[in-house]
Formats: sequence, C-alpha cells, structure tokens
Amino acid sequence: MKLGVVGKGGVGKTTVAGLIARAYRDHGRQVIAIDTDSNPNLGMSLGLTLAETDAVPVLPRAVIVGTGGDRSAAELIDQYGVTTPAGVTLLSAIRVAEAGAGCTCSGHATVRTLLGEVMTDLADVTLVDMEAGLEHLSRSGGTLAYADVLLVVMEPSRKSVLTAVRTKALADELGIAHVLGVGNKARSAEDRRFLEEACSAEGIALVGVLPHEEGVAEVDRAGGVVAVSETARQTIDEIVASVDAAVSAVAARQPAP
Ligand SMILES: Nc1ncnc2c1ncn2[C@@H]1O[C@H](COP(=O)(O)OP(=O)(O)OP(=O)(O)O)[C@@H](O)[C@H]1O
Ligand SMILES: [Mg+2]
Repeated sequence: MKLGVVGKGGVGKTTVAGLIARAYRDHGRQVIAIDTDSNPNLGMSLGLTLAETDAVPVLPRAVIVGTGGDRSAAELIDQYGVTTPAGVTLLSAIRVAEAGAGCTCSGHATVRTLLGEVMTDLADVTLVDMEAGLEHLSRSGGTLAYADVLLVVMEPSRKSVLTAVRTKALADELGIAHVLGVGNKARSAEDRRFLEEACSAEGIALVGVLPHEEGVAEVDRAGGVVAVSETARQTIDEIVASVDAAVSAVAARQPAP
C-alpha cells in the first residue's frame, strides 16, 4: 500500500507520518517511509538523532525507477535506505543543503517513479511525508500520482480545511482512490466539532482527530521521539484501520487478474 501524508504547512504532517509509520511497524508490517521535505526531519520522528537524520543519504534526482529505467526500487532502497530505531526504513528524497541549489522537481520525479513501481515485495506500506502545499499534486504529473490513499492532516482552522478541499480536488483529477482527513492539535470539544462539521460540509471523510498534546511540542523542542497519550495512540490505530479498510475496499472492487 502506498500512502501520502499531506496538508497545509505546520499542521503536523511529519508528526502524524511518524506515528502512523510506527503503528504499522508495531502491527508487524514492513514499512518504508520517504521524506520529501526540503528540510527533512521525519528521521527524528522515527528515532534518529538530528545528526543521524542529516546524514541520511539523499536519493539521486531524476532517476527512472523500474523495468527499462535507470535503477530498480530494490537497489535504491538497498543503497539509500536507513533502518531507524523504530524499525522503519527511511529514504530521504529532497534535502536542499545549499542556497541556490535549484528547484526540487527532479527529486520529486524520482519519488514519483519509485511509487509507480510495485513495492509490495519490498514493503507492506510505503509512506510519503510530503512537504507543505499542493504543488506535489500537480508537479511532474503529481509526485503522489501512484498513491493509493492520501491522508490530509488539518488543524482546527478554516485555512487547513480549505487546503484539504483543494487537495481532494487535485487528487480526484489524478485518480487517487481515497483522500481521508485527519484532524490534529484539537484542544477542545469545539475544535473537534469544527473539524467534523467542516469536513462533513466539504465531503471529506474524517477518520480521526488527534488531541493537542503539550508533550508532543515539548519533545519537538527537545529533539526526541514523540510519545503520545493512550487516547492519541488509540486514535492512530483507528486511522490505520480506516486506511486498511479503504484500501481493501478498492482491492475488492478490482477484477481478478
Ligand atoms: N498533536 C500535537 N500536539 C501538539 N503539538 C503538535 C501536535 N502535532 C504536531 N505538533 C507540533 O506542531 C509543529 C509542526 O508539526 P510538524 O513538523 O509535524 O508539522 P508539518 O505539517 O510536518 O510541518 P511542515 O509543513 O513544516 O512540514 C511541531 O512543533 C510539532 O511538535
Ligand atoms: Mg513536515
């Protein structure tokens, strides 16, 4: 299964991507996580130190992955994948290390062709933590064009819901089967209600709302692995169950080969 985590800047994509990747791993699934942020920090959500995260080798740009291409997916993962303390294999796709290094389109192109490959021999779940914004759904035919599911993370704010609505429209155009909403940083019952009502009005399936937890922000400041409350952990498990249900529903509708 290929899963993209998207949403407006700062809503918690990397935090949620790390929690989802670890939940799948805890359920015994093999997980590859791809960081496509030009300022990558998914590694820290998976237990690497800052120095280790910075040392993750960056995937080569503009590589065509797969049969008839430059490299196989297995070769790339072998050469560039780093096993994190969480047990998830991390790939870093886009790091911008110097000013004036040019646009990151060719890095996105590598991720796009990598996702175009059948990854099921290499991982049960390939999860992509996207950088903020919508460009990745239009650039190079859409970095996430081959995703099965997009999880669009929203804070309790109108702007982040609007980003989700635009994301869904672009994902529909790309033919991505499922766009599921995840609320994050809810501080109150009103925050939850806002997200539920706004998503329902906009036709976005909200599959879970994570609370605002001071511990998450503190760990972020101190630079460690995010630990969440039991309630948040259960919500993550529910989100994972909803993603699995969505993907099996699609698989069940496809004719047998
Ligand atoms: N549930 C939460 N409770 C409290 N703080 C949170 C929560 N989720 C995320 N944060 C904090 O919000 C900030 C942004 O989170 P994160 O980096 O995961 O967002 P992002 O969407 O990946 O950001 P960017 O768009 O820059 O990639 C961080 O300081 C993080 O610790
Ligand atoms: Mg991020």
